[in-house]
Amino acid sequence: MWQDGPLAVHAELNIGGDTMSYRATLCRCGKSFHKPYCDGMHRKARFAATGEPTPQKSEPLPVRNGPLNVTPTLNGPLHVEGALEICSASGQTITRTTETWLCRCGHSKDKPFCDGSHEAAGFIADGEA
Ligand code: FES
Repeated sequence: MWQDGPLAVHAELNIGGDTMSYRATLCRCGKSFHKPYCDGMHRKARFAATGEPTPQKSEPLPVRNGPLNVTPTLNGPLHVEGALEICSASGQTITRTTETWLCRCGHSKDKPFCDGSHEAAGFIADGEA
């Protein structure tokens, strides 16, 4: 993930049914007009992530770059399934997993993960994939 910016994904991707790329930048500030993709609105919105995430204990995966199925949930997080290694902007491994829910509303207090704050924030994701 980028510091105060989007999620940078490098893997064989299926995003909301589109299997079109191996790289994508996905909005995590909630302000993009092109969700689930980043359109640069995080700069205008002055999105600030909550510092360096705390690394979780996890074991190495046989592969760490997918293939990934990324499903934007209705007015909620990105549901990600597949071999995934999540790294901070500094390059530190945060976790390795095969399923997670990543915040895309900008309000989670446990970024990059969803903590349910999207409901209290009234997050609306228009034009979902
Ligand atoms: S999507 Fe941001 S807290 Fe759930």
